Amino acid sequence: MTASGARLRPRDRDAIVSALRAGVVPRTGFQHIQVGRASEVVAMRREIDRIADGGSAVRFVIGEYGAGKTFFLNLVRSIAAERKLVTTSADLTPDRRLHASGGQARALYAELMRNLATRSTPDGNALPGIVERFITSAIQEASASDRSPRAVIADKLAQLSESVGGYDFAQVIGAYWTGHDTGNEQLKTDAVRWLRGEFATRTEARAALGVRTIVDDANVYDHLKLVARFVRLAGFTGLLVCLDEMVNLYKLAHTGARRSNYEQVLRIVNDCLQGNVEGLGFCFGGTPELLMDTRRGLYSYEALRSRLAENNFAVGGLVDLSGPVLRLASLTPEDMHVLLERLRHVYAGGDPSSYLLPDDALGAFMEHCAGRIGDAYFRTPRNTIKEFVNLLAVLEQNPGTDWRELLGQVRVSVETNPDLAPLPGESGPDTDGADELASLRI
Ligand SMILES: Nc1ncnc2c1ncn2[C@@H]1O[C@H](COP(=O)(O)OP(=O)(O)O)[C@@H](O)[C@H]1O
Ligand SMILES: [Mg+2]
Repeated sequence: MTASGARLRPRDRDAIVSALRAGVVPRTGFQHIQVGRASEVVAMRREIDRIADGGSAVRFVIGEYGAGKTFFLNLVRSIAAERKLVTTSADLTPDRRLHASGGQARALYAELMRNLATRSTPDGNALPGIVERFITSAIQEASASDRSPRAVIADKLAQLSESVGGYDFAQVIGAYWTGHDTGNEQLKTDAVRWLRGEFATRTEARAALGVRTIVDDANVYDHLKLVARFVRLAGFTGLLVCLDEMVNLYKLAHTGARRSNYEQVLRIVNDCLQGNVEGLGFCFGGTPELLMDTRRGLYSYEALRSRLAENNFAVGGLVDLSGPVLRLASLTPEDMHVLLERLRHVYAGGDPSSYLLPDDALGAFMEHCAGRIGDAYFRTPRNTIKEFVNLLAVLEQNPGTDWRELLGQVRVSVETNPDLAPLPGESGPDTDGADELASLRI
């Protein structure tokens, strides 16, 4: 078993343990706890290679609540970071969407910019470092070729100016360079603020940076394309954008709002499948109803339905991992057993002589959970994992305690899928009837 033999840094161990105890998916050290997903990872590696070679990719990671979508997206991000891509992710929420007119699309963009990460800055906020790297490499190139840094920077940025919104984007990077060159920190800060989509009005941006536009609801996707080109100019291989909780688009009660958001998804899908974009990939995470519901899901939008329709031959256990839709099956009891072994191993800091539980305790723990909540213990495993790590924590802090006695006290409960709560009663001229909604949610 390769993962168990792998070296385990204390930092990774602590990050994994504390994330799982808090019921969230860890952000690093996946290889130590990952179970299954081997062929899905191979498929995603291929996509990432394509992006890194200046191409594009788009994938919809579809699975039931608890199947491991968020875990998988984080895993994909870490693989992309190894390939020198810049990555970012955000959850869609009612206040963060792909299309809006009240600032919700800009809010999504701003969140993506806050979460930009690279291999050396894995926890986000990598944007200032990326801009700095662009400047530094231009200065080096200038001194090697006996040109002025400003001329080298202008040359590089000329490539951006041709794209939609690229002129101002280039101006802002130019302003950053001026700030760098003249020791004007405020100018640098303002440039980064603009790139992060944090200017609320054009007037403000114009006063600070002399540009006429800002990132707003209408140009979010255009800006993501610019960021993708820019990170390549800064020496990275491309940009991977992960958008999780896509079900929030499905939940938009207003048909028009849903449609305009799906239109943006379609633009992205078309661009990425046709190779109209360079060094850019998208990974969407969503539940089956987001995809397949013909009234509110992506399938309700005919053009998306035809592009995302799955291979008719991939049924009855046959898989096709080459299409844009990547199905994640829920974990199995066998996966769960391996996962508990890994958790025990990680908790012990990778040292089998420090295991807090013997092998037969793992099976007993699973039986206990199955007795309390049935199948849910491996289908929606967050609570099972959390309680298992909690059990290890008690055993660690109370040496000599018998695990059998503690097991009876483990109170694992069924997780409820928050998406099954009634949809918000957003009203609008063409809001769907409440009765229809109610019947859909069952
Ligand atoms: N392949 C995997 N290997 C190990 N643990 C996983 C795997 N997939 C999911 N998990 C764990 O299962 C739980 C549920 O996964 P999550 O990604 O949150 O599900 P989803 O986003 O589909 O609702 C999390 O605690 C996560 O760490
Ligand atoms: Mg999730």
